[in-house]
Amino acid sequence: MSENSSAIQSVLHETRTFPPSEEFSKHAIISSEEQYEQMWNRAKDDPAGFWGDIAQTELDWFKMYDSVMDGKMPNTKWFTGGKINVSYNCLDRHLTTWRKNKAAIIWEGETGEVRTFTYQQLHHEVCKFASVLDKLGVEAGDRVTLYMPMIPELAIAMLACARVGATHSIIFGGFSADAIADRNHDAQSKLVITADGGWRRGKEVPLKVNVDASMEKSPSVEKVIVVRRTGGDVNMQDGRDYWWHDLMEDAVADRECTHLDSEHPLFILYTSGSTGKPKGVLHTTAGYLLGTTMTSRWVFDLKAEDTYWCTADIGWITGHSYIVYGPLSNGATTMMYEGAPNWPDEGRFWEMIERHKVNIFYTAPTAIRAFIKWGDQWPEQHDLSSLRLLGTVGEPINPEAWMWYHKMIGAERCPIVDTWWQTETGGIMISPLPGVTATKPGSCTKPLPGVVPAIVTEKGEPLGPNEGGLLVMTQPWPHMLRTLYGDHERFVETYFAKFDGKYYFAGDGARKDEDGYYWVMGRVDDVLNVSGHRLSTMEIESALVSHESVAEAAVVGFPHDLKGEGICCFVIPKGEVASGDAAVAAQKELIAHVRNQIGAIATPDQIRFTSALPKTRSGKIMRRLLRDIAAGRESAGDTTTLEDYSVLAKLRDTDE
Ligand code: PRX
Repeated sequence: MSENSSAIQSVLHETRTFPPSEEFSKHAIISSEEQYEQMWNRAKDDPAGFWGDIAQTELDWFKMYDSVMDGKMPNTKWFTGGKINVSYNCLDRHLTTWRKNKAAIIWEGETGEVRTFTYQQLHHEVCKFASVLDKLGVEAGDRVTLYMPMIPELAIAMLACARVGATHSIIFGGFSADAIADRNHDAQSKLVITADGGWRRGKEVPLKVNVDASMEKSPSVEKVIVVRRTGGDVNMQDGRDYWWHDLMEDAVADRECTHLDSEHPLFILYTSGSTGKPKGVLHTTAGYLLGTTMTSRWVFDLKAEDTYWCTADIGWITGHSYIVYGPLSNGATTMMYEGAPNWPDEGRFWEMIERHKVNIFYTAPTAIRAFIKWGDQWPEQHDLSSLRLLGTVGEPINPEAWMWYHKMIGAERCPIVDTWWQTETGGIMISPLPGVTATKPGSCTKPLPGVVPAIVTEKGEPLGPNEGGLLVMTQPWPHMLRTLYGDHERFVETYFAKFDGKYYFAGDGARKDEDGYYWVMGRVDDVLNVSGHRLSTMEIESALVSHESVAEAAVVGFPHDLKGEGICCFVIPKGEVASGDAAVAAQKELIAHVRNQIGAIATPDQIRFTSALPKTRSGKIMRRLLRDIAAGRESAGDTTTLEDYSVLAKLRDTDE
């Protein structure tokens, strides 16, 4: 947390409101304020009754649970005694309905090919791959790493892991070999599933080479399965590496679902925290499934006839919950796209919406800012009239970007759901309900049923309307994380210690306005939000300091037109501070080094060399001042505790 943030000032005061049309409300799954309030109040006053009723009607169980919720935050359990399987709920149960021959996944490769899987076909592939997992000795409870491009085999692998009870750990393709090794090691993964590469902006992004490079530091990994996607050269190691297509050739498709406990670990997903190594957020089976099923239905008003497209990468939580598990559990049609939004040109997304007649479109503010920059001529060339609902996720959306989305993509007709949630929350927490909520640009509006947030001071005291403070959750919910893999102490410390176990602390600052609408103002810890992805300043600092030439480093964010936040690194070299060509060469080297250590997503935007960093008398780096310098603002804050005033002036003069 920054030095001076007990009071968070809000400067945004947006007054426009956009109620849903009568027509939309009439057909919506949740269609009136009364219905919402009744659900919300019931869930608040009687969470076990509320979630229990839905769990019985909306999920298929092998054995009904004994109790809905046990324990208190931080240690809650849901649906104990129950036996269930996520793969069954996403696939098998649809096969006895008219949905069996309906598209489950429509996939488009960057190179233009389209593959469609009906529920029956997807079930077939998943059963086959589940039997491959059996054959390779993967058992319920084992961890499996997936490091794959956005291809159907990724969804198939996830659902097959869920089928046999293996806990998947998906690593986004933008991470480096070192990051894979760290995660393999932390999870003690037994198997890695990857591909030769994937296509992105017309180029092959190699994946298998990174897996190869991670192997030396991944002693737990016994086998690697490789999907052939690009046809690029790969090195296959005998006895360790297998081609997906070879294994699938003689696999049989009769693999039934393992009956798993409600709290069986479904997946680990690593995310950045403010200190130390990435955190392995653990989600379990029944609660997560229930949360993603219901939030998909409520927030996206998801119906069987919809073609729904979430543009996230499955390497992030959004893809887990809202490309794969939530939509498939609902029997919806989910689109999946492999590549870049500007390939072969900046009209790609709009062309795809027109081609597939997409009805619901869910993307990120960082993408919307890019669309705005590329120009209106791209969406204008396409018929977007199939759209009926738009969504955003990942960071606060600024009202002007919201208005552009509303006018240019939604033709002032489609409700926009600005969904606030986190890797840890598993599913959407605060969001408009499209048939109910009058939206305000920039606000994620109101909590969903089952979500009881509050805005509090550092001491946990409640704040009044429009007073900025810390966003907390005062009640547990079924789809919340259960622990940080292998480090329960850190889990308690990170999310619950601040308020003595009473609240879940989200790490975000927010205010609630006089209408009860939430306005999230961003992270209050040392976590950057770069293009909607959380990056720890601490991890980037460690990567920099691991370079032989660096003595000390401090990383801060600064406002960036497209990415939301850019990465600015202040670096104290071990020798003299270089200048001119030598400085440029050193900057390049450090940028490459960080990419190598963490991956392309953490590429620094600025490296500034300095001979000292501003510190308090107790030796803490004054990040607030560095943020001002990185943003080009004069520092107006209190500097009386600064150890060396001259440091500030020197930093301001450093090259970018
Ligand atoms: O700061 C909030 C921001 O993204 C953080 C969660 O990041 P991550 O775990 O990577 O998950 C992103 C996708 C769910 C939050 O703590 N955030 C996410 N959605 C919003 C948001 N900030 C404002 N408005 C949102 N709609």
